Amino acid sequence: MAPFIQPFLIFLVIFNPFITNSFTEEIEVLVFLPQNDSFLFSHARVAPAIRYAQDRLKAEYPGFHFNIHFENSDLANHALFTLADRSCNLKPDLILGPVREYEAAGVVRLASHWKIPVISAGALATAFKNKETEYSHLTRIAPSYVKMAETFKAMFEHFTWKSALLLIEDDMKERDCYFTLEGVYHLMDDYNVEVEIIHEQAPFNIEETFKNNQDMEVVIICAGADRIREIMLAAHKQQLTNGSYMFFNVDLFNASSYGNGSWKREDEFDDDARQAYASLNTVTLLRTVKPEYENFSMEMKRSIEGLGLYDCNDCGNVNMFVEGFHDALVLYSIALHEGMKNGYSKTNGTEITSHMWNRTFEGIAGQVSIDVNGDRVGDFSLMAMTNIEAGNYEVVVNYFGENKTFQLLPAFNSDHFTLTRRKEVPKKEKEVENHSCGLGVSALTGVTVGAVLGALMLIAFYFFRKNYRITIQRRTRVEEPESMKHHQLREDSIRSNFSAA
Ligand SMILES: *[C@@H]1O[C@H](CO)[C@@H](O)[C@H](O)[C@H]1NC(C)=O
Ligand SMILES: *[C@@H]1O[C@H](CO)[C@@H](O)[C@H](O)[C@H]1NC(C)=O
Ligand SMILES: *[C@@H]1O[C@H](CO)[C@@H](O)[C@H](O)[C@H]1NC(C)=O
Ligand SMILES: *[C@@H]1O[C@H](CO)[C@@H](O)[C@H](O)[C@H]1NC(C)=O
Ligand SMILES: *[C@@H]1O[C@H](CO)[C@@H](O)[C@H](O)[C@H]1NC(C)=O
Ligand SMILES: *[C@@H]1O[C@H](CO)[C@@H](O)[C@H](O)[C@H]1NC(C)=O
Ligand SMILES: *[C@@H]1O[C@H](CO)[C@@H](O)[C@H](O)[C@H]1NC(C)=O
Ligand SMILES: *[C@@H]1O[C@H](CO)[C@@H](O)[C@H](O)[C@H]1NC(C)=O
Repeated sequence: MAPFIQPFLIFLVIFNPFITNSFTEEIEVLVFLPQNDSFLFSHARVAPAIRYAQDRLKAEYPGFHFNIHFENSDLANHALFTLADRSCNLKPDLILGPVREYEAAGVVRLASHWKIPVISAGALATAFKNKETEYSHLTRIAPSYVKMAETFKAMFEHFTWKSALLLIEDDMKERDCYFTLEGVYHLMDDYNVEVEIIHEQAPFNIEETFKNNQDMEVVIICAGADRIREIMLAAHKQQLTNGSYMFFNVDLFNASSYGNGSWKREDEFDDDARQAYASLNTVTLLRTVKPEYENFSMEMKRSIEGLGLYDCNDCGNVNMFVEGFHDALVLYSIALHEGMKNGYSKTNGTEITSHMWNRTFEGIAGQVSIDVNGDRVGDFSLMAMTNIEAGNYEVVVNYFGENKTFQLLPAFNSDHFTLTRRKEVPKKEKEVENHSCGLGVSALTGVTVGAVLGALMLIAFYFFRKNYRITIQRRTRVEEPESMKHHQLREDSIRSNFSAA
């Protein structure tokens, strides 16, 4: 008997996919990353992570062969045109990237139309939440800006704050800060939220802004490191850093730009800045590390160093994008394998995409949860200055997106998060109530930004022009009726985007 059984067993092992992971499949992967190393998600930084994932997946899914093609996405629309051109011969089975919002909008739209799964560690803007139609095949493997905003919402509930002033530095190109705080604006429509846009080059009257927004409790800033320092110094000079406002800034990705010494410039203002930053708290991504991560991180550093990139002293820091694109390939493999087990193939992008959503898996740095809408659930940390003499920061609070709860760490000090003027001025509830306009504005914001991105891509398709300089009319509080307030972000984005095209 034995001689007959053995070949039969081998036959089973090789050809019965239900017993092993040995489905075989050639998978065409198209990756869009910029060559320019000033981006944290440049080709040089991210490609080694994708290769690393590819190598490791060979053990688990020996039958999956990834043919990975890297394309650059430096120029606006290059990614979109490349996708269109390449797909004349052979459509890719999977697209990774692009990260930047405007490139991602075009690529994801076309890919969704062709039902090709796209996984990006970017495309974090609020509009990409809309998976009903135009972004139907997009899976976001890094927590979006709206997920980040949950941290603020939870804090506002916990500390019973009612109002916020968003200070957004808008570069009119990548618009990262604009999209970052758009998430907060979108999520917090139950609160009294004001927005001030700061232009990178133009002078900005900080004193005036604070004077006009005296009744705001919380100031949330997204800007370059120098601009933040400028704002904090001005606030300190006006004695607003004594607990009469809560200050926050958001810096999700660049670990070297926050924390200990972020106030320091070796100039005569260092001392003031240190004191001012005592009331500035930073929201950032919660980083987790597990043993396997060590090897990954070392390998990433090694490949970056091997390239000898100039002007790249923080390149050794493995960031969220690098991790994200690694995990993207893992997630796709899990989904494809599961889809094939259910009798589908890689050509059914809709089916494969559905297996990526509503699932938790082990990423390179820890557990990754993708929600039912195909967006990664986010965990965030809040850093605060805990030693004012030394100007040192520590993580004081963690926020877990999965169960939407806070974890207060030993360094947390509730006095630090108590508004002093609460004790002096009785709260005027009236102001908080009369802003709600019940129009479902947050949904509209998303839809409109989506439509605007669409219009932009369409128009830009014909009239490509990258360099533009435009001025948004500065809203003045006096002129604008209260009812206009909620439309401000939308109007700004329409104006600026249309000017862009
Ligand atoms: C890379 O990007 C930065 C910032 O956007 C820009 O200043 C620089 O000129 C770019 N470098 C190249 C080689 O395109
Ligand atoms: C903080 O400074 C502001 C502005 O000078 C002042 O109105 C307020 O009373 C001060 N609050 C405390 C607690 O010192
Ligand atoms: C990260 O932050 C540091 C310090 O602010 C800055 O010098 C560097 O250019 C930033 N890197 C990127 C890619 O934004
Ligand atoms: C990482 O692990 C691989 C295989 O286990 C090994 O070949 C490699 O040397 C390790 N890299 C580092 C930097 O430890
Ligand atoms: C893809 O899978 C879905 C089920 O998720 C099915 O309804 C659809 O018909 C399939 N499409 C093709 C082209 O096989
Ligand atoms: C998501 O997954 C959970 C369990 O894993 C399941 O109970 C739930 O029905 C799923 N939701 C959707 C919308 O598929
Ligand atoms: C800042 O420095 C202190 C003391 O040296 C250290 O305990 C803390 O971990 C540092 N914080 C960060 C975010 O690096
Ligand atoms: C929420 O999730 C985090 C991380 O998974 C866990 O550490 C924490 O205990 C959870 N909190 C609650 C209240 O379940």
